[in-house]
Amino acid sequence: MERKPEKPIGKLGVLVVGMNGAVATTFIAGVMAVRKGYGVPVGSLTQMATIRIGKREENNFPKIKDFLPLYDLSNIVFGGWDIRDESAYEGAKIAEVLLDKDLDPIKDELKALRPMKAVFDQNYVKRLEGTYVKQAATKAELVEQVREDIRSFKTKNGLTDLVTIWCGSTEVFIKPSAVHETITSFEKGLAENHEDIAPSMIYAWASLLENTPYINGAPNLTVDMKCVHQLAEEKRLPIAGKDFKTGQTMVKTIIAPMLKMRMLGLEGWFSTNILGNRDGEVLDDPMSFKTKEESKLSVIESILQPTLYPELYKDYYHKVRINYYPPRKDNKEGWDNIDIFGWLNYPMQIKIDFLCRDSILAAPIALDLVLLMNLAHRIGFSGTQEWLSFYFKSPMHSENVVPEHDLFIQHIKLKNTMREIMDEEPVNHIDEKIKMFK
Ligand SMILES: NC(=O)c1ccc[n+]([C@@H]2O[C@H](COP(=O)([O-])OP(=O)(O)OC[C@H]3O[C@@H](n4cnc5c(N)ncnc54)[C@H](O)[C@@H]3O)[C@@H](O)[C@H]2O)c1
Repeated sequence: MERKPEKPIGKLGVLVVGMNGAVATTFIAGVMAVRKGYGVPVGSLTQMATIRIGKREENNFPKIKDFLPLYDLSNIVFGGWDIRDESAYEGAKIAEVLLDKDLDPIKDELKALRPMKAVFDQNYVKRLEGTYVKQAATKAELVEQVREDIRSFKTKNGLTDLVTIWCGSTEVFIKPSAVHETITSFEKGLAENHEDIAPSMIYAWASLLENTPYINGAPNLTVDMKCVHQLAEEKRLPIAGKDFKTGQTMVKTIIAPMLKMRMLGLEGWFSTNILGNRDGEVLDDPMSFKTKEESKLSVIESILQPTLYPELYKDYYHKVRINYYPPRKDNKEGWDNIDIFGWLNYPMQIKIDFLCRDSILAAPIALDLVLLMNLAHRIGFSGTQEWLSFYFKSPMHSENVVPEHDLFIQHIKLKNTMREIMDEEPVNHIDEKIKMFK
């Protein structure tokens, strides 16, 4: 880095799309609880992890939050949009992730947090109905309304920096088409109400036009569109996505590298989930599920590299299912049955039953991403942020490279980028004794 970034002064505004959903309210309530001293930010690297600086024998392991000049949690101000006029407290109660014992101490703060009217159209999320929705003749006008929301949120709260994070529902599957190609074609599409422009794209467009980095926590097409990349580069803004890597996919990106590292073969991988929250209900619609499925399926293929290892990975069978099962609410159960083979093709099996809590795993990811994306913005990183792949199921990547899905490699890349930002040497794990033989 030419110049080491400095600790920010002022306040960071975090605009959450889908502000009253399970992930969003768990994230927001969690930050409020932590800064009041009622909770521990378990799962957040920016708050809990350390980073090694220098050689191993130097024994220097500062906490990331002391090493990187990030905003303190006390300087975060939340705002956002949702399709129902409920406070974040009501949203958290409906989501049923956090218990009253955790919500009560921050009840007033959560009650005071109310969403702005959403950009919503049921054609893009079939299972939801919006009652608190912006009206406009064209999508271009909706962009202007969201821009106005962002500006007034910034002024009203005296904010220095902003970041937008999509924690809204998964939209129907949309293929990239001509309208998404360039800034001009997209703007024309906005004016003509093109049907391939979904609400998430309107939030992203408005955010970038207001110099606000955009994070996509769902598998929606938004940040993959060429026009968004162009606009982000033009405005020198970072964009990140897509789809938070939480339960089953996180496990997959640990098990698949293990198989490949030990040159063990794969015959089949069957993954199924039962999930009873609103996200599960939305994903029960085949068109929203298709968006999620695309995001979940690519992971193993890219880690195992079947073209390099045809004897091990050429013809494996991979299936992912999500079943809406209301009694489970946010407490998902994800089963994996993995048929593998070893020495002389002898078969073996791995069975995993992960009883996780979806939003409890997603909330710390949302926190890390808003803080790190703000840092990226302040130091002038723009476009795709591959160093943040660690947090995503379908990490964005440059056109000329394949995405990196292996959680261990992603972790090394994340921490080495942090070192680079602060002008410290990357850690390469090469034994000093080996170097002496050269
Ligand atoms: N929980 C996880 O582990 C996890 C992991 C990866 C991705 N995700 C994704 O994160 C998203 C949120 O998940 P969740 O469990 O919180 O779902 P949720 O249904 O509880 O919350 C989504 C919220 O978005 C709102 N919303 C929908 N469309 C909107 C729009 N156009 N504008 C404003 N608000 C809108 C809904 O009203 C709802 O409050 C989903 O897309 C999900 O697939 C979740």
